[in-house]
Amino acid sequence: MNTIISPSLLACDFLNIEEEIKSFPNQKDLWFHLDIMDGHFVPNLTFGHPVIEKISKVSDYPLDAHLMVNNPEFYINTFKNFNLHNFTFHFEAAEDSKYIISKAKDNFPSVGISLKPNSPVSCLKDDILKNLDLILIMSVEPGFGGQKFLQDSLEKVQFFNELKIQKGFNYMIQVDGGINQENAPLLIEKGANNLVAGSYIFKNPKKDYPAKVASLRS
Ligand code: DX5
Ligand code: ZN
Repeated sequence: MNTIISPSLLACDFLNIEEEIKSFPNQKDLWFHLDIMDGHFVPNLTFGHPVIEKISKVSDYPLDAHLMVNNPEFYINTFKNFNLHNFTFHFEAAEDSKYIISKAKDNFPSVGISLKPNSPVSCLKDDILKNLDLILIMSVEPGFGGQKFLQDSLEKVQFFNELKIQKGFNYMIQVDGGINQENAPLLIEKGANNLVAGSYIFKNPKKDYPAKVASLRS
């Protein structure tokens, strides 16, 4: 399977979101990553329903919602009409992960769960893993773009990849935070197949976004 690259719109120019979204013509294996923050689960606020709805109307690529919010279950009903491809919530924010996964699966093609850097990999038991389409390993503390990649994320990727092979699970392994041309090949080698990148792609004066995307796969 080709590596999916998920540009994080958190790092794009918010005054020109549509133009930014349209700057990725004819891409394969590209998702747009939406960082949804509520100011409680993380100390930052980003965008909510009206903005996500507008983005969904102009995006030609699957939308990947990363909910950094308390009470993620609440968002299933409101987001289900926005044509999102993937719905990822945080393990640390969920009282009953299994229930949220099953409810989200009724409304989205793909459902993921995310672990903050300090949450041990053992949090996710087999009865959760077997129902997941995606595991999101946070390689920075969630809340802000532009942070430094945490190296121990590589071992977590390897752990979940070996477990997946051993037990026949189907989840995609996504990594998010501080991703650049140096760490991307290492993550891919360990088994990651979906890389989120914000600053590396968008904080780029040349605005040659497709070239930046391609460079993460090489
Ligand atoms: C952080 C977000 C990330 C962030 C990544 O809470 O989940 O998706 O936008 O940004 P960079 O690539 O700049 O670390
Ligand atoms: Zn994210």
